[in-house]
This record gives sequence, structure tokens and C-alpha cells, in this order.
Amino acid sequence: MENFMLWGEQKLEIGRILEALFTENQFMAAMIVDDKGRIVSISETYLKVLNLSREEVIGRPAKEITPHTRVMNVLKNGKAVVGYNWRINDHNMIASTIPIIQEGMVVGAFAYSVFMDIWNAQDTIENLITEINMYKDEVDNLYKAKYSFDDIIGKNEAFRKVKKFARQVAQHTISTVLLCGESGTGKELFAQAIHNQSSRSRFPFLRINCAAIPENLLEAELFGYEEGAFTGAKKGGKPGKFELANGGTIFLDEIGEMTLTMQSKLLVALQEQEIERLGGRHPIKVNVRVIAASNKNLENMIESGIFREDLYYRLNVVRLDLPPLRKRADDIPLLCQHIITHLNCRLHTGTKKISSSALEMLSTYAWPGNVRELENVLERAMILADMEKTQVLDERHFMFIKKQLDLCRAAHDQQNLKNAVREFERDLIEKALQDADYDRVKAAELLGIDLSTLYRKLKKYGYSA
Ligand SMILES: Nc1ncnc2c1ncn2[C@@H]1O[C@H](COP(=O)(O)OP(=O)(O)O)[C@@H](O)[C@H]1O
Ligand SMILES: [Mg+2]
Repeated sequence: MENFMLWGEQKLEIGRILEALFTENQFMAAMIVDDKGRIVSISETYLKVLNLSREEVIGRPAKEITPHTRVMNVLKNGKAVVGYNWRINDHNMIASTIPIIQEGMVVGAFAYSVFMDIWNAQDTIENLITEINMYKDEVDNLYKAKYSFDDIIGKNEAFRKVKKFARQVAQHTISTVLLCGESGTGKELFAQAIHNQSSRSRFPFLRINCAAIPENLLEAELFGYEEGAFTGAKKGGKPGKFELANGGTIFLDEIGEMTLTMQSKLLVALQEQEIERLGGRHPIKVNVRVIAASNKNLENMIESGIFREDLYYRLNVVRLDLPPLRKRADDIPLLCQHIITHLNCRLHTGTKKISSSALEMLSTYAWPGNVRELENVLERAMILADMEKTQVLDERHFMFIKKQLDLCRAAHDQQNLKNAVREFERDLIEKALQDADYDRVKAAELLGIDLSTLYRKLKKYGYSA
């Protein structure tokens, strides 16, 4: 056997190399066929995969042993087939077949397969695909608005009015919109729907969460920067969200979290309709519709001097107040239905409906996290029901919010008691006044209270003094 020079003084026999590669390699299954496609040599690993002995295999046509083999094609065409996927006895393999050519003639073929499962290659690939999809979603989310008005569910009177107004705003104006509402009331949903319904829908929709980005980065995020603007600035600079959103909409979420300095810079950009990149020398014209959102009371913030009044007026051209879920409890059944359908797809659950007693229970809850909380609560309940193999959500599936529910109920009952007492008192006073021919001194006597107390109560119930 010829010696094979590697480097320096090291010498390895080619035969030894082949043996190591071919016979001892546990990660590769290999065989050699002759020009007729008959197996002349096969590795231990391949035999193990086939679950056959050497005697059962040698001399037999490869096609009989592994029907998927490509050796016949390779022998016929003299061309290698590299990297095809196949599956044998629960193993995923990546296979290649190479012709063996001697003096211009195809004299045989070398076929080898690598186990994907041994490498964990399949997991790796699956993970990569999941990751790629995640980035795709991210990119889509970055520049596109997913939701339209049809995705906004609600029949409640007040809610419908807001939705109708938002639709008109989207269609008929290009003005700045301020969305106010507690967290989870659908501010982002409305922002996307407004963009999608507007003439700007073909242009980008960009969201920026002012609370999530530290102040020193927020300016660069919004307005971009030039090369060398600061240490670590990317070569060639970077456009900000205002530039990227040109022609479209920028959604400034949690605007109340912006510092006063940034507020001034934003105000200038809105007034001038142009921005200046950090370290830049020229203003850049931008045509962007601004939708801002806040779950904080901006008026109070103005009073405390932490929100600029002029910026507030600039943003508050059109204002939409999204009601909290507890003020539109009549929408809970409809929302549940909508959310259950969505979650069934995502969770692969088979929830069909929610019982009326469960719905009644959910209606008494205060929902501090609004629709987002309703989504989370339903998700948990659906998983619990699924584990029980039940298709109907019932009160027992919501026991994890029982404590909060009881608190809400107690507050609710207390409110009811107060109201009942008030009504009773009011009726008594009304009756006493009638009996006393509206003589207040007599009425106080009938009621057994001081005149001054009667006056106080009359005032409380809205009678003129
Ligand atoms: N009226 C609604 N109809 C359907 N889904 C809603 C509605 N309001 C809110 N949601 C859902 O609730 C979640 C929170 O909404 P989001 O717009 O992010 O709220 P916010 O920005 O006010 O915190 C989202 O998953 C959204 O799709
Ligand atoms: Mg939000």
C-alpha cells in the first residue's frame, strides 16, 4: 500500500485511513458497488442500520437491499448525486453517491450516508427554521400593521362609538391621533387598524415603545445617526424610525415615558416635519403620521410638570379614549368566543364554548389588565380544560383567579349595599316631604332628624335647597 504524505514527518497509510473512514466510522454508513450495482464492500455501520449480516449482503444488487439507492443512476450517468435525504429504519440520513471512474470508465460507485439524528442535525435545522420564522415575524411586525378594524371585537355602545370615530379618523384625515386607555385595552390594535384603513396602508407602519428604550438610545432610534456620531456608531450611519416610516405611520407607544428633553425634540420634529440625524448636518424632510398612545393620565403629568403641554396639544388633535373592559362587561361573551377560536388554533386545543355561569363569573371581575388579561386567563383555563379532555370551559377552570374574583365581588356587593341604602333613604325623605306638604320643618320632624341634617341630605340627593 502506497504511503500517503500528510505533513512533516507524519506518515499514514492510505489503507488505514480508508479503514478508519469506512469500517470504523460510526457516523457514516458506506458501501461500494461494482459496475453492475452489486455490493462488493459494506461498512459495519451500514449493516447495523440495515439489520443484516455481511453474508446476506455481499454480492447482492444494492437495489434489493436498499430500494431507495441512487447507485444505478450514478453508474448510468457517471455523475455524482450529493446530499439527498432518506429515511431507513427510523434513521434520517443524508446520502451521497459518487461514481468510481477508472480510465474514463465507470467501474463502480461509492455510496455513503451520514446520520442526521446522530449529529442532532434535524433538531438543529428545526431550531433554525423556528428561529428564521421568528425573525420573519419580527420583521413583518416591524414594518407592517397586522390588524384591521374587523379584528377589533366589541358591540358595547360606547366602544362602538369609539371604533366608528376611529374609522372616520383613519379615512378622512392625516392628523395625529392620541390613544388613551389602560394597558390591554387595544391601543396598539387601534393604531394598526387606523394605519391599515388609511391611504398610507401601503407604506410602513413602525412601532416604538418609548418605555422600553433608554433615553440615550431613543433619540438614535427615532431620528437615526450619522457615521461617527458616537463611539460604536455603525459605519455609514443608520436611519431612524421616522425616516424608515416615511410615507407611513409611526406608533409612539407609552409616550408618557418619554423624558422632557426627548419630548422637546419630538415636538420640533412634529412642528417642522423634518428630523435631524444625530451628528448630522442637514435636516431631512419626513412625511409621517404619528399615532401616540398612553396608559397614563397625561393631563395629570402636565400638572406635575413631567409632560410638555405644547407637545400634548400637538398630539391631542384627535383623541380616542378606549374604555376599560370592566366598563364594557357586556362584550365579555363575544370577546371570549373570539379569543377561544384564536387560541384553539395556537394551542391546538378543542374548546367549544364557555358555560354561562363561567361567563357570569368573569363579568363580575375587574380586569385590571383588560383584554390582554382576558386572553391570558382564557389560555390558562383552556389548557386546564384540555388536560381534563373537556370541551366546555366552566367555573372550575377559572379557580386560579378565584381570590381576585372574591375581592371584586365583595367590592361589588358593598357598592350594591351602599346604593340600596341611598335609595331607601331617598324614598323615605321623598315620602316624608309629600306627607308634610313639602314643609321641610314638618318633614324633618316626621323623619326624626334635625332640620340641618335634612338639608344636607336633600342637597346630597340633588334637591334644590
Ligand atoms: N376589542 C378587541 N378585540 C379583540 N382583541 C382585542 C381587543 N382589544 C384588545 N385586544 C387584544 O388584547 C391584546 C392587548 O391589546 P393591545 O392593543 O396590545 O393593548 P394596549 O396597547 O392597549 O396595551 C392584544 O392581543 C389584542 O389583540
Ligand atoms: Mg400596548
